[in-house]
Amino acid sequence: MESNKKRDSKVTEIQKIVAKELKKKEEEIILEIPKDILLGDYAFPCFLLAKEKRQSPILIAKELAENLQKKNKYNDVEKIVATGPYVNFFINKKNLAAEILIEIAEKKEKYGSGTKKKERVMVEFSQANTHKAFHVGHVRGTSVGESLARIFAFLGYKTIRANYQGDTGAHVAKWLWCYLKYHKDDKYDKHTRAEWMAQVYVDAVKRLEENEKLNLGSKEINRKLEAREDSELMKLWQKTRSWSLEEFESVYKDLNTFFDHYFFESEAEELARDIVDRMVEKGIAEIDDGAAIIRLDKHNTDKKNDLGVFVLLRSDRTALYSSKDLALAELKFNKYKIDKSIYVVGAAQTHHLKQVFKTLEIIGFKQAKLCQHVAFAEVRLPTGKMSSRTGDNILYKDMKQMVFDYTREETIKRHAEWKKEKVESAVNAISIAAIKFDMLSRDNNKPIVFDIKRACDFEGETGPYIQYTNARINSIVRKYHESNKESANKENKLILNISADINFSVLGEKEQKLVALMSNFSKTVQETADNLKTILLTRYVLDLCQEFNVYYHATPVLKAENHEITRARILLVYAVGIIIKNCLNLLGIDAPEEM
Ligand code: ARG
Repeated sequence: MESNKKRDSKVTEIQKIVAKELKKKEEEIILEIPKDILLGDYAFPCFLLAKEKRQSPILIAKELAENLQKKNKYNDVEKIVATGPYVNFFINKKNLAAEILIEIAEKKEKYGSGTKKKERVMVEFSQANTHKAFHVGHVRGTSVGESLARIFAFLGYKTIRANYQGDTGAHVAKWLWCYLKYHKDDKYDKHTRAEWMAQVYVDAVKRLEENEKLNLGSKEINRKLEAREDSELMKLWQKTRSWSLEEFESVYKDLNTFFDHYFFESEAEELARDIVDRMVEKGIAEIDDGAAIIRLDKHNTDKKNDLGVFVLLRSDRTALYSSKDLALAELKFNKYKIDKSIYVVGAAQTHHLKQVFKTLEIIGFKQAKLCQHVAFAEVRLPTGKMSSRTGDNILYKDMKQMVFDYTREETIKRHAEWKKEKVESAVNAISIAAIKFDMLSRDNNKPIVFDIKRACDFEGETGPYIQYTNARINSIVRKYHESNKESANKENKLILNISADINFSVLGEKEQKLVALMSNFSKTVQETADNLKTILLTRYVLDLCQEFNVYYHATPVLKAENHEITRARILLVYAVGIIIKNCLNLLGIDAPEEM
């Protein structure tokens, strides 16, 4: 957008000079963009003028171009020539490069950000269920959601990060039932508690599957829980629920994420029942064998997209996941007056969310159209999806341990001289980057088989590679400061001094390529938001890093032929560093100073 603005100012400048020459108003000068860039950056067609003057447009173009070119003292326009009935304008690319580089150096982390908008976007993500494990699939959703939230905020939207944790329902009832019956005297401590909780859940599922009669017990707990009628049970629920929530917070800290609002399934139950009762009254929903259902096939005319029957309340009136989602939509829009509601939820729930959005539409919820599902496929480890201990998915904790151990070994190999603290802080940054970048740089629809070696490869298309390129740039800039006897903490001021009197004409074609890539930054961020696909931004930053590394490999910067060239190149390198840092920030990944 910023570079578009720059382009707009060029348009005005050209309009001005043409208007002056023709003694017309600026608004009357309509410019076109030639299809072939070799013909120029802008074109002024002479057909209207030809009609007015009853002359050949080709002649008019020729004459006008010659006159303008003669008088052209304008910095930004390099060349003005006629091609047939058009006057074509070539923008001075070196000036464009200078402007972009200076702007990046001046605006830094704000470069490319959008103006404040009044629209409010809610991004709902992560949504782990209490009494169950935080697994690697949650890491994918959390990474995608956090990045989208950062991107919307960067573009100027008021952004609300929301979590929606399943703290009630069948799974919680199963857990409580199993705990009370078989695990009351288990031993665990703070470190093993989360894993133990996951195990109790797995045990519950196993026992209930083996003996169907036991289901009555867990169903009764579910009913009591929802009726809030047993104070002992409520106390146990509160306590165990908070254990899970505490655990999730420590994961969020690891993953660089936070939430502005937590919705809970437990607060949606009552409203869910109200909504369904109203639906039944209006004849939109019906009672079938005691349960409340809506026949979406009846309401949906799209035969190819049969949404079937959506069960809303059980016969004991407890709310299902389905109706709680209807309530959640109301809570979201009423409380936060949002203009867009993004649901970052696993692809397994695509059908469910289609049913939710359709039902909202049928009950006349105006904002149903503003709800959007960002689906993502599952995450596996090469060893498979299942873990024997926790049945369900691979725990985040286990993945973390593995990746941390791996990068620790690598870091110690590279930096035997580093102190333990320094190693640990690098290990933390690199590991989380490896995990998150691997999740963000994939097509959302494709399953990920998380391979440590691939994700941590410093030379591959990975988070650590991007971080490493940035650290390398930091070191080049630092060396420049040192050799110029300027202290590194004055970095920003110094760079600005450089840009004021820099000779940009020493930057050649190789540099133009990098500048052109940099000028695509804001466009890419916008596209990432429009398509809700972080892969667009990860691809962009990978391309920029690869291009930079090719450039730096072939081009001396600190040891260029002369100081003038070094100064121009250092500004370029510094600007690349800023764009990389901006990308990492939008992806929710740390950019360590050194690596
Ligand atoms: N807690 C749910 C689960 O683990 C995911 C919630 C997704 N969001 C929603 N609005 N349904 O399956």
